[in-house]
Amino acid sequence: MRSFCLFRIAMASSLAMCRLHVMGRSSLVKCLQNGDTFLHRCVGTNVVAAQVKASRKEETEDGRKSLNAVQVERQEQAERSVLISCHSRTNERKFLKYFSRHGDINKYFFYESYGMYAVVEFASQEGVASLLEGAAIPSIDYESVVPFKSRSFSLRNLGLAESPNQQSGKLCQPQTTIPINELIKKLSKEQSIDQQITSLTEAYQLTEENIRLRFLVCSLLKDIAAAYFPECTIRPFGSSVNGFGKLGCDLDMFLDLDGISGRNMAKSGLSLEYQMKRATSERAVTQSILSVIGECVDQFGPGCVGVQKILNARCPLVRFAHQPSGFQCDLTANNRVAMKSTELLYLYGVLDPRVRCLVFTVRCWARAHGITSSIPGAWITNFSLTVMVLFFLQRRSSPVIPTLDHLKELAGPADKSVIEGNDCTFVSDFSKIQVQSNEETLEQLLCGFFEFYATFPFSRMSINIRKGKEQNKPEMNPLHIQNPFETSLNVSKNVNTTQLERFVALCQESSWLLQQSDTTTPSASSQGDTPVPWGLATLLLPSQVAGIKGRKKKKREPASEMIKSLLESLKNKNPQNNS
Ligand code: GTP
Ligand code: MG
Repeated sequence: MRSFCLFRIAMASSLAMCRLHVMGRSSLVKCLQNGDTFLHRCVGTNVVAAQVKASRKEETEDGRKSLNAVQVERQEQAERSVLISCHSRTNERKFLKYFSRHGDINKYFFYESYGMYAVVEFASQEGVASLLEGAAIPSIDYESVVPFKSRSFSLRNLGLAESPNQQSGKLCQPQTTIPINELIKKLSKEQSIDQQITSLTEAYQLTEENIRLRFLVCSLLKDIAAAYFPECTIRPFGSSVNGFGKLGCDLDMFLDLDGISGRNMAKSGLSLEYQMKRATSERAVTQSILSVIGECVDQFGPGCVGVQKILNARCPLVRFAHQPSGFQCDLTANNRVAMKSTELLYLYGVLDPRVRCLVFTVRCWARAHGITSSIPGAWITNFSLTVMVLFFLQRRSSPVIPTLDHLKELAGPADKSVIEGNDCTFVSDFSKIQVQSNEETLEQLLCGFFEFYATFPFSRMSINIRKGKEQNKPEMNPLHIQNPFETSLNVSKNVNTTQLERFVALCQESSWLLQQSDTTTPSASSQGDTPVPWGLATLLLPSQVAGIKGRKKKKREPASEMIKSLLESLKNKNPQNNS
């Protein structure tokens, strides 16, 4: 009971937008709430305004923005946004009229998840405040509600719905990728492999709306965490923001408490410091914070279901599904190195558009053949695969991207970053990085990727994007990919021999397929309105790459000597392919 009271007091110190209205709360709680709300408004608004201003400086002349600048802008946008659950027949015109009464609307869109939803972005915070002021507490006859006010609303029948026979005609923004068979059809209609790669990237990448939704979910969660830590932020990392995210990818979030600061100690006389609970280690602090925030998300977070606290993992996290967005969410804290790797991957993606295209294609190819999986296990992860693509691009005779060591050499004093003893310094100013002279096509690079890993000496060598050169393996795991920042760690430690062999075999097979003219010539024929798969589409067909069995009857064209001998060794290893 006592802990419940303390808990209510802590929750009451929330920010204005998500005040916890506990029935019958004491005047002490009210006092705390008002004081803290004011404090947060001052701190929050000034911090965001200053961050937005500073982030504008982080844009190059050609409009390329640093990840930090993107994050600050998106976070600010998300704070002016609300999430609305609405009826599928909601009349768009009436909907807009209703919300416009609360403030000017910058942008809105509809999408379907478990029901119909809309995101509305107001021009200013006042729009959100007005909505919060005007919303009702749901009245439910046989159940009770947790009176936690958030920016997730339900729009009840206010005469905004169309009659059943009227078509609402609203455009719903897709939140998932097209199925693989549709993608194969789409790619088969393209006229070159380069176009196929670009088309795949366009079909799979996150949409503007999906990115907004991701930042909004972070912002809604921040409102919960801010009950305890008013100066915190929750930032997305990983594929949601590194430029390699596919529609439907998970939402990795990082609870950032570094904004919590105090005054400098006075040199003489009296000075005041906060009394703070002590813990045995940083890890223990992270675990206790995540445990409590996880509990709040579970108990109070609208639409947050299946909350699991995985606190004993190397990187403790809270995992849950956010139903209104359909995102699988992982919330971590004190995970700054992952934030740095996200920044690095983002930078590589921005440096040359071929990087993103190639990563999307390889990730999609790997998923189509079960090389990667959404289930944790001995599979190669998307992160490892991305690092493998980057390494390959560094290893071209004329490199496509620079090494991490080179990016470190270009860093200025403001870029210096050491996290838990790991040097994570690299340049943030894109304009300091010289454009590389490599002019290979996407097709050449894709073929090159498969050839490179079809022959890579995995048993002896380690993949190292810091040096841009393979290094002797420091340990005996089948696949060794050096963690770019925590250099003593192997990011692919989980991969077993079977999975690595499958990857190599598929690289050999795909490389061979890309040397056959019937694979690489656009299909002129079609079966009904379905064009015959060719080029990249062929590589995504599960039966095609799984073995050369089906192709044995056709006259083979000469593949490179190296690939031919590799295929022979592959066939000898897999006798079923010879049957
Ligand atoms: P998908 O979620 O599969 O689309 O890709 P992702 O890049 O988001 O991968 P994931 O969700 O598994 O991990 C999120 C981020 O955590 C990655 O982008 C990396 O920044 C970081 N990360 C993932 N795995 C490792 C690892 O093994 N070591 C390190 N140091 N960081 C990792
Ligand atoms: Mg992820």
